[in-house]
Amino acid sequence: MPKICVFPGDGIGPEVVREALAVLRAIEEISGARSFETEEELLGGASYDVHGVPMTDKAMGLACASDAILLGAVGGPKWDPLPFEVRPERALLGLRKNLCLFANLRPAKVFAPLLDASPLRRELVEGIDLMVVRELTGGIYFGEPRGIRTENGVETGINTEVYTRPEIERVARVAFDLARKRSRRVTSVDKSNVLESSELWRKIVTEVHGRGYTDVDLSHMLVDNCAMQLVRHPKQFDVIVTTNLFGDILTDEASMITGSIGMLPSASLGGRVGLYEPIHGSAPDIAGKGVANPLATILSVAMMLRYSFNRDAEAGWIERAVEKALADGYRTGDIYRAGSGVRRVGTVEMGDVVRKNIMTNTQGEVKR
Ligand code: IPM
Ligand code: MG
Repeated sequence: MPKICVFPGDGIGPEVVREALAVLRAIEEISGARSFETEEELLGGASYDVHGVPMTDKAMGLACASDAILLGAVGGPKWDPLPFEVRPERALLGLRKNLCLFANLRPAKVFAPLLDASPLRRELVEGIDLMVVRELTGGIYFGEPRGIRTENGVETGINTEVYTRPEIERVARVAFDLARKRSRRVTSVDKSNVLESSELWRKIVTEVHGRGYTDVDLSHMLVDNCAMQLVRHPKQFDVIVTTNLFGDILTDEASMITGSIGMLPSASLGGRVGLYEPIHGSAPDIAGKGVANPLATILSVAMMLRYSFNRDAEAGWIERAVEKALADGYRTGDIYRAGSGVRRVGTVEMGDVVRKNIMTNTQGEVKR
């Protein structure tokens, strides 16, 4: 039986993961059999509080021995004063690096019922369906040298943006392969007018394209322009491929186009084990209040079924159940705008509605 390693993490993580796991159980119930084993471990601040480290060897071992990982979120102000090496974020970065999860897929799709939740005008966002492929194990997040030191009596903070040819080639291929299943357009985003690492990025993405992907339309864009274009005319994008840091920033921006960062799932792929997590953080301000939006994590389970377990049909059930919950007017606080036919609900109720939709909407399909 495939095994899923579950890291609820910090803040709202445990609340949203609970709902997502219940959705997974609903899927199993329809299939009539338990088909996934799950095992939970502490990660991030929650692990630090108990073990003094954000990720124990046991947790890393469990992740490696699983077939997929579901993660809530890590971090929070409580742990901000900690030394860098034991900060909750180190656990997540360590997982990505150790499991070789170099390609982070972050889809930004607008759900029609949420058009008015977007801060952008309806006509700009209607029908938006873009996919950011963020390089996840290289760049300035991991480059050496790094650190804070005193040089000639001056405190100096150092990070290094480094990209090697193989790192760029492999993530470019992921983006082109994905584009082939979509509308065959890739925008590669860099800062090649200033950074050598970006100059190489652009050169190699162009080479990979020329060597085997000329059926895909490739264009290049500078990151500052891309940030602007995402709010000016987001529909121009299909697949965006970019570096670790640029991808981190642009996906937060892209998420708001869809109405809320609480809606966006992600998949981190590249190694044997895929990692699935919402792109939002631990939202400490609302943690424990039962108001967090569980949909990004629920949609991350759909991505897990699709990419790690080849279960497209079940992934579709979840996605349609989420769409129906929104169409029926259910809204968590982050996507709520007072109006007729909409109803503000909490984390658990939103999860319940999605599960109920899965159970009722799939009846016909399952019987067939
Ligand atoms: C993300 C987050 C992480 C990142 C943090 C929590 C380390 O912002 O997944 O986008 O910067 O990659
Ligand atoms: Mg981020």
